[in-house]
Amino acid sequence: MFGELIGYARNQNRITVEFEKNKVIITVITPSIINFFAALASERRPSKAIEHLEEAPGVLIVDFSEGVLTIRTEQLTVKVTNEFEVTISGHSGAILSEDYRGTGTAFIRRGAGEGIAMAAEEGHKLSSAEEKISYKLKKKLNPNTFFYGLGEKTGHLNKKGYHYRMWNTDDPSPHVESFETLYKSIPFLIALKDNQAFGYFFDTTFESQFDLGKENSEYYSFAAVGGNLDYFFIYGPSVKEVVTGYTKLTGTTPLPQLWTLGYQQSRWAYAPEARLNEVADTFRKKAIPCDVLHLDIDYMDGYRVFTWDRKKFPNPEELLKKLKTQGFKVVTIIDPGVKKDRGYSIYDQGLANHYFATDKDGIPYVNQVWPGDALFPDFSNENVRNWWADNQKIMTNLGVSGIWNDMNEPASFKGPLPDDVQFNNDGIQTDHREIHNVYGHYMAKATYEGIKRATGKRPFVITRACYAGTQKYSTVWTGDNQSLWEHLRMALPILMNLGLSGVTFCGTDVGGFGFDCTSELLSRWVQVGAFTPLFRNHSSIFTRDQEPWAFDEQTESINRKYINLRYQLLPYLYDLLHDEEISGLPIMRPLLLDYQNDPKTYEINDQFLCGEAILVAPVVEQGAKKRLVYLPKGSRWIDFWTKESHQGGQYIVKTAPLDVCPIYVKAASFIPLYPVQNYVGEKAVNQLTLDLYLPEKGEAGSYIHYQDDGESFDYRKGSYNLYEFTAHLDASNKELHVSLSRTHNGYEKSYDSFILILNNTEAQSVSLNDAPIPFEVTKDHTVVTAEGGELHIKL
Ligand code: GLC
Repeated sequence: MFGELIGYARNQNRITVEFEKNKVIITVITPSIINFFAALASERRPSKAIEHLEEAPGVLIVDFSEGVLTIRTEQLTVKVTNEFEVTISGHSGAILSEDYRGTGTAFIRRGAGEGIAMAAEEGHKLSSAEEKISYKLKKKLNPNTFFYGLGEKTGHLNKKGYHYRMWNTDDPSPHVESFETLYKSIPFLIALKDNQAFGYFFDTTFESQFDLGKENSEYYSFAAVGGNLDYFFIYGPSVKEVVTGYTKLTGTTPLPQLWTLGYQQSRWAYAPEARLNEVADTFRKKAIPCDVLHLDIDYMDGYRVFTWDRKKFPNPEELLKKLKTQGFKVVTIIDPGVKKDRGYSIYDQGLANHYFATDKDGIPYVNQVWPGDALFPDFSNENVRNWWADNQKIMTNLGVSGIWNDMNEPASFKGPLPDDVQFNNDGIQTDHREIHNVYGHYMAKATYEGIKRATGKRPFVITRACYAGTQKYSTVWTGDNQSLWEHLRMALPILMNLGLSGVTFCGTDVGGFGFDCTSELLSRWVQVGAFTPLFRNHSSIFTRDQEPWAFDEQTESINRKYINLRYQLLPYLYDLLHDEEISGLPIMRPLLLDYQNDPKTYEINDQFLCGEAILVAPVVEQGAKKRLVYLPKGSRWIDFWTKESHQGGQYIVKTAPLDVCPIYVKAASFIPLYPVQNYVGEKAVNQLTLDLYLPEKGEAGSYIHYQDDGESFDYRKGSYNLYEFTAHLDASNKELHVSLSRTHNGYEKSYDSFILILNNTEAQSVSLNDAPIPFEVTKDHTVVTAEGGELHIKL
């Protein structure tokens, strides 16, 4: 495809490499991030994922001798030879990534002729993916390699040995490991090899394929069915640095409004309004916190987007006002499919302005979704995005607080959209093959921008379909799971890998969407949900009810217990999102992200970290009342419930009756806590509780806490406070020094005082800025209230 390497030309950090048959542009973005680009299909097109690329290449040296082009950055050495074969090594000289040069062939699928036809007839899906590929890059696979990322994919945390495709797909049958596609396409892969991590972001919106040692254990590959070759190599050596590098390219999730971290209740169908009111009233009557209620498609008039069914919801504005007085925010679903219906303003405007995707002859393309015959707004056209953005105010002016984008793969009931459906692609006519995977991304972007314009607040958008970079505009949920234990188990690796792929604000339908939930499954799922960034219980029409009270008193009280805990943890979660906006690091993370030096963490599917300080090991087996927990090496861990302390680097068996989710807090951590409230803002939080888990003797721990108005963009102008808390235990284990200080003062509201809970201590005396102050000692902790300053605690 490339032929012999002939020479090169350098223009600062861009090196154009001439091959006999093609040329490749290598751009050093930073010393650790390198882009490889070949215009195989068209001129270079603007990336859909990367909107603000900051190049800071540092010093680089380029040399061409004996047929080898060598590029040295401050971190990496890249060698390019004939046929565009690339070898990348770190500074130690160890090879990270190397093109596979062998003749390796795929494993054989045995069977032929009649057998295949019969199997297909019975409904077996026979893979023919390989036939479509237009190019494929093979990289040598070292047996000691683990793979992560790839956004939302079924299966386990480590993706080695599997084959996946990137093609946004709505398939409501129960998602299992054999599914190669789901709703999102994020072609970003992380490899961890001999404790060295690196990633590939394969920036193509065409269908792409990742084979991670499935077809041949000697190599892994990525391939696409069309378009240009355009990929970024992102070096670690830590997985954290790879994730941060990737989110430097594709963006991080902006800080959301605080209430979006509260509990959310949804169901297809909370209609008519009496039913919605009944749900709202029950939350308040039963004192189960809830911030958000969702309205699914049945609030609309005949599934016409941006309309209301006035029989079911006679006065939406009044209804939303009333719910607001109860502390509820309402989020409404909007699908892309616009009903084909003359006289319906959205359809008429779309048609008049040529806003819909067309067939190859320019005639608006029609398929079917909920409203029957429907057309598909061409979100790849900026004018359409602007129109769609403006339409958001139809909803927000009535008091809607967030928009839920669904069916935006796009889903279509009368077969998939043909390849040749035409899109505008901001002025370059493009077919469906190139736009499909980015359709939902653009819809989310338009929605985000519209809500921002209309309200001035931080927009809350949820989307089902995604491409790389969608995290800048929207939160995501993992679509139509089912009330199956298998799906509770799978929720963990899916969400962890989404987090590693830049999509930090994610969640699953708690309790499961399809099929009927059981009391035990809901009890265990809410224990996971309490720690997932998006915490929403949602279920399908015709399934049994699954609100927190839908089963029995025990299930209700377990739901209340974990939803209460979630509300206590709100400042901790908000701090994590504030950090994430800067670092791109996820809230819900696999253990290996923080414990890369401990290989025992590399394949843990059923435990996760919520930020650095909290380890969650949920029970995900029906009937289990105990579980094995691995506590990673390098930290000491304190049982959140019993306060028992455990050294890391060991497996323990934790007893976990139905109301206990095993949770461990890392020693030397501060966990900021709010009081339980029915909804965010119900109570003014004048006192911040700091739950402190002591450091080892002679050691220290610290924590940065962030505070702002929780809703506006004023924080970007400096309107926020930062606090720094540190704790140091002296070498004799007798004196604890805690310092509570404000390090940035930009937001007018602050805390009157802090309630410090010193776990596993029995203080003898406490002084604040050298003056003795009162304190309380209970069974396993000491409580001190202080305005801030230097605390000395004698133990
Ligand atoms: C899709 C969504 C689901 C929603 C349903 C009806 O299946 O994934 O969440 O409830 O459509 O709108």
